Amino acid sequence: MRAKWGGVLTGLVGASTIAENIEKETMAESDYQRLAGKFVVFDGPDGCGKTTQMKRFLEKAEGAGVRIRRFREPGGTPIGEQIRDLLLSTKNQEMDMRCEMLLYMASRAQLVQEQIRPALEAGECVLADRFASSTLAYQGGGGGLSSTAILQVAEIAVDGAWPHLTVVFDLPTDVAMSRLNPLWAAGKKRGDVNQNPLFDDSAVKDRIEQRARDFFERVRENYLWQAKQWPERYRVVDASKTIAQVEKQVMKVVGEFFGD
Ligand code: TYD
Repeated sequence: MRAKWGGVLTGLVGASTIAENIEKETMAESDYQRLAGKFVVFDGPDGCGKTTQMKRFLEKAEGAGVRIRRFREPGGTPIGEQIRDLLLSTKNQEMDMRCEMLLYMASRAQLVQEQIRPALEAGECVLADRFASSTLAYQGGGGGLSSTAILQVAEIAVDGAWPHLTVVFDLPTDVAMSRLNPLWAAGKKRGDVNQNPLFDDSAVKDRIEQRARDFFERVRENYLWQAKQWPERYRVVDASKTIAQVEKQVMKVVGEFFGD
């Protein structure tokens, strides 16, 4: 199993050889089939590059014939997209952390019932961009809510549809912030380069910058805490590397996780 996934990986450095390698590795397709009915989450702090990696993973899995569905959180359903607008609108600055946590969970509950569970039951692989691990990291680690309370609400929202594997994309907070806004690194006034209300500071003061940085540092630490807490269903990749290097790690951990 490991060697087969590794074989596919060999082609990732030169994109033109990907299809060729998949064809050559005749067993690779059946390896990918182990993803049928599996629920995989890619998660990590803003700026970790998980969305790029998801697209690549999705393309490869589809290329190997896997029936795979990708969902993003918050959102992924018409109701969830409306909740997403509420959550991410910069107009809702006064939103209480508990309200925020419950809205993320409400969006998730809808996504599970409407999309994730039916897809898994139909034998499809589900690839989710964030899940309950994000709520633990952001509203728990960052926002200070207790992980016990979040998990209690998550039990209701997730209703048993917990991911088989959560891949955490880890990187130093300063690297993540510099990726989101190159001005950050230069210590200049920040532009409107991302949609996250937590980052949306139109008149930046150092103290606020510092608070934002602390928040994201706690988010990162919480993801690493989760990975230690549940080693049987979490894997961490070093997301500070190049796209190709991170992709290689993703293939390795996913391949090994679902392999023999
Ligand atoms: P989005 O623009 O989708 O960011 P990304 O592409 O990084 O996923 O915005 C989602 C934001 O919502 C992101 O900053 C993380 C945050 N979030 C939470 O705070 N809690 C959650 O439970 C989830 C799912 C997301």
